[in-house]
Amino acid sequence: MTPVCVEDYRKLARRRLPKVLSEYIEGGALTESAVARNAADFGAIRLRQRVLTGIDTVNTATTILDTPLSMPLVLGPVGMSGMFRRRGEAQGARAARGAGTIACLSTLSICDLREVHAAAGAPWFQLYLLRDRAHMTVLLERAWGLGVRVLAFTVDVAVPGERQREHRQGLAGGLGAVGEMARAIDGLMHPAWMWDVWLRGRPHAFGNVAEAYGGNGFAGFWTWVRAAFQVSLTPDDIAWIRQNWPGKLIIKGVIDPEDARRAIDAGADGVIVSNHGGRQLDSALSGIAALPRVVEAVDGRGTVLMDGGVRSGEDVVKALALGASGCLIGRPWAWALAARGQAGVAHVLELYRRQMATTMLLAGCDDVASIGPQLLA
Ligand code: FNR
Repeated sequence: MTPVCVEDYRKLARRRLPKVLSEYIEGGALTESAVARNAADFGAIRLRQRVLTGIDTVNTATTILDTPLSMPLVLGPVGMSGMFRRRGEAQGARAARGAGTIACLSTLSICDLREVHAAAGAPWFQLYLLRDRAHMTVLLERAWGLGVRVLAFTVDVAVPGERQREHRQGLAGGLGAVGEMARAIDGLMHPAWMWDVWLRGRPHAFGNVAEAYGGNGFAGFWTWVRAAFQVSLTPDDIAWIRQNWPGKLIIKGVIDPEDARRAIDAGADGVIVSNHGGRQLDSALSGIAALPRVVEAVDGRGTVLMDGGVRSGEDVVKALALGASGCLIGRPWAWALAARGQAGVAHVLELYRRQMATTMLLAGCDDVASIGPQLLA
């Protein structure tokens, strides 16, 4: 099958990956209604079709948080991507760089910042709050030293969401001997993945934090996470990062306008409107539904990005029409990476760029700066 859309890559990834990984990527919290809403709410938005405008070329380029981009789309942080394809984060970052955009590297990536930097230059970096502030300082200083200039501080994982697919697959352990055996057999039934990732994609440690938890495969990792992540967050934590991070600071995982206001008041340069791809609060609003009120609350005092359910270039245009400066994607690039590696991610980004250009042309809009609410039907 020649993939022509994100859904095609989802199907290819399902075939290529062992079940524990395909379920990890696809799953959401509880009934997965938030996952469905993220996409459905985009589907309910109508754009004006404009034809007599004389426009024949469009420019999708823009600049977000001082980063020049070929389009307003960034690869969002997806933990463990290096298990989807050999050294997956490096491949994703290279594809992003080649497409004129950028990847935001997860704290919980397999490749660490140094490896991704060596592969594709400095990415954006996503950080979770750790109780150990000395460890936080090390990560922040390393990122700055490598040339990272945008930090996404994720605030919506006070506790991991109730992801039933992950529980069923025993992602965080507790499978028992029979379950472990079934998982090993499932791995063997995916020989391409076995060869590429399991055998040739080592080390399989969470690179950025490997020193902290011992770094020996995944053993001890989840126990470390439970002890190391700070559960309760306040604007003071944002203020602390602000004091220790000289670059741009964007707060990821804001849905409520009041939280957006607090984040900006605490010194952030912007927010990413996100329900974490529907993986946290199953009853949360979708990113796209929450966006307009967050834009209103931020009131021009910062940059507003969004993610969740962005499945085409047309969705990117809709998000911009509702006030976002740009979007991130999670699963779409993870699926493309699993299916075809760097070439797959490059292709998915090219699809988004082309779809965005087509949408802009059909909606009568020739550059990113002029996308606004006037495009909405
Ligand atoms: C994520 N997301 C995420 N976010 C983050 O800040 N740090 C992380 O490590 C991860 N890890 C992660 C793993 C997986 C498998 C998924 C699907 C998502 C959330 C991600 O950055 C983004 O907010 C959503 O994925 C956006 O929704 P879509 O594009 O997947 O619908």
